[in-house]
Formats: sequence, structure tokens, C-alpha cells
Amino acid sequence: MAYDRRFYGIDFSFDAFHGMPYMQLGSSGLHVSRIGLGTWKFGYPERQDGARLGRDMAFQVMDRALELGVTFWDTANRYNASSGNSERVIGEWLGEHREERRNIIVATKMGGAMDGVTPNHGGLSRANVLDSVYASLERLDIEYIDLLQFHRVDAQTPIEESLEAIADLRRQDLIRYFGLSNAAVEDLAAYQRIAREWRLPMVCSVQNSFNPLTGAQAAQPGVLQHCATNGISFIPFSPLLRGLLTDRYLRGRKVGPGDRLVDEDALAQLTEGDVYDKLDRLAAIAAGLDLTVAQLSLAYLLQLPAMGPLIPSASNVDQLEENARAGTVELPAETLQELREIFVAG
Ligand SMILES: NC(=O)c1ccc[n+]([C@@H]2O[C@H](COP(=O)([O-])OP(=O)(O)OC[C@H]3O[C@@H](n4cnc5c(N)ncnc54)[C@H](OP(=O)(O)O)[C@@H]3O)[C@@H](O)[C@H]2O)c1
Repeated sequence: MAYDRRFYGIDFSFDAFHGMPYMQLGSSGLHVSRIGLGTWKFGYPERQDGARLGRDMAFQVMDRALELGVTFWDTANRYNASSGNSERVIGEWLGEHREERRNIIVATKMGGAMDGVTPNHGGLSRANVLDSVYASLERLDIEYIDLLQFHRVDAQTPIEESLEAIADLRRQDLIRYFGLSNAAVEDLAAYQRIAREWRLPMVCSVQNSFNPLTGAQAAQPGVLQHCATNGISFIPFSPLLRGLLTDRYLRGRKVGPGDRLVDEDALAQLTEGDVYDKLDRLAAIAAGLDLTVAQLSLAYLLQLPAMGPLIPSASNVDQLEENARAGTVELPAETLQELREIFVAG
């Protein structure tokens, strides 16, 4: 929902920060950077927690992200290996940069089993929503979470119980905005209906998987369209398909251990069918525009209706800088036409 910038003559034109254009999150008043930062792989690899970046590299990435206006940072309590270490590394950075708190939008998630082993340490019960948020705040070393997302829905807990916990946390200013993740159209519709009926917090965003090469919102079809008609931001997770939508996995490139899709044994499955042909076409289009495949792909995603901030992970500063540039790319109409023949619109 756009606001009237001329309202009472007040200038509301905070469209960008450090050169990065911002967008509204759903129909809320919160503004977020078009390119954000996924921090799933932050942690302490020396403790074998599954992280790909330790504290030093993560700090370099966060320092540079702030300089580039990449200020929407997505994490989860479970990252990595259900340890909370991604939140801890971010918390270390935020603790050393208190003056930057308002410049960073911290988005985290809860819901998966965490912080203990009883049946009450997972799910979306009032008990687990409250305790998980307290634990995340401590790890993140902050007073409030900007966007709390339910990592997945919980069929065993009544939605009104979960939403009332969210409402209580909002009243205490421990969280500010609320979203879902891994949610189907029916889940979103149920949350919206109950929020309206009970005057409880509305969903601003939904973070789901989305593969523009194969059209797979396979697990949750129709969500992007639902978001477009309901004022919800769609945040596609793994927007670079874990690195596939970059220059590095193009046909003939040498990849091996150290490349994430090799490390995660996912390359063969992700490149089934005509995927390499599509990557060839993307590479040719990108080269013609002096862009990389990553920049072209992210710029394409950004112009889809309902698309929210993109949260590519970066394993180093070069990747971050490359990805950030996509936030300012406007693709020509004829390029979009070509891309629509390669990418599936959702
Ligand atoms: N809600 C959920 O259930 C859920 C699930 C998955 C992810 N997420 C969120 O989505 C974020 C992003 O997802 P993701 O990390 O799975 O995948 P991604 O952002 O699609 O891909 C990130 C990987 O691609 C490589 N990369 C990034 N930029 C590059 C560039 N410019 N050139 C070459 N390679 C580049 C890096 O691999 P290397 O390490 O090999 O360099 C990096 O680890 C996560 O951090 C997390 O916040 C959420």
C-alpha cells in the first residue's frame, strides 16, 4: 500500500539507504532493503556446527552489508545445527555496534525444536513462542526483534494461541512485525481470518522456497499469487538456489569440495532436465547487460508482484557486493520478455 508522500507537506521520501533502494514489508509501514542478507551459514565452523562462515568473515560481511545498505538480515534460532550460533554471531556484531541498531532490520524465526529436548521445546505453543523469543533476544543481544517469523506452521496448536503470544510480545515491544515461513495458501488464509476475527497481529511476510527455473513453489503452490492479492511480502528463501543461479556452476566450470552444492550433494538434483541450457541462456543475457547471472536472477525476482526483500547468503564480501548491486538494477522490457521464457513466473 503506497502512502501519499505529499501528505501535510511532510517529506516521507526515505526511499534508499547508502544507495540501496528500500521497499515496504507487506502492507506494514516498515521499510526494508531490496537486497538483504541471509545468515544461515554464519556460526562457529571450528565447533563443527555446519556453518560456512566463522565470526571473522561474518563480521566482514556484516560491516560491508551496512555500508552497502544491505540491512535486512535474516536468521533463525536453529541456524546452525539447532545451536543458535548464527544469532550469536549477529549478536556479537550488534553488541559491538549498538549505534547501528536502528539501521539494521533483524528478522529471525522460531518453531523448530530448540534450546532443550522436551516436547515443549518446539512448536508454536504460547510457552515455546515466548521462551524462544526470550532466548533469541539474548543471543542476538538486542531489546527487540524487528520481524519474528514462525519457521513452519504447527497443526497441533490453535492459531489463536500462537497469535495471542505474538500480540503479547508486540505489546511489550519485544517483537515488532510478524511473518510466516514454509506456509501454504490455506495456512495464510487461516492466519488472516483468525487475526481479523480476534483482532490479532496480521502476517506481513511469508518466507517460502521458490525455484524460478523449474517453477517449483512445489510444496506450497499459489502462495506468491496469494501474497499479491493480500498485501503480504513474499520472501523467497535460497534465492540463488544455493549458488546455482550464479556464474560458478555454468557448464564447463570446475566445481568441487568447497562449492556449496558439491558439499551438500545437491548439484545433480538441481541441474536435472534442461537446467544447464537455461543457465547458458541466462549467462548470455547477463553478459549482454554487463551483469552476472546472480545479479540478473535477483533483479528478475525483484520485479515479480508481491516480491519482498531478497536474502541471498554471502560466504564472503565479494559475493555480497555482487549480490547487492542487483538492488539497483532495472531490467529493460525486452530482457524481461526473454527472461519470462526461461524463468517461471510463479
Ligand atoms: N525459511 C526457511 O526454511 C529457509 C530455508 C533455507 C534458507 N533460508 C534463508 O535463505 C537464506 C539464503 O538461502 P541459502 O543460503 O540457502 O541460499 P542462496 O542464498 O540461494 O545461496 C547462497 C550460496 O550461494 C553462493 N553464493 C552467494 N552469492 C554468490 C555469488 N555472488 N557468486 C557465487 N556464489 C554465490 C554461496 O555458496 P558458497 O558458500 O559455496 O560460496 C552461498 O552459500 C538463508 O541464509 C536463510 O536466511 C530460509
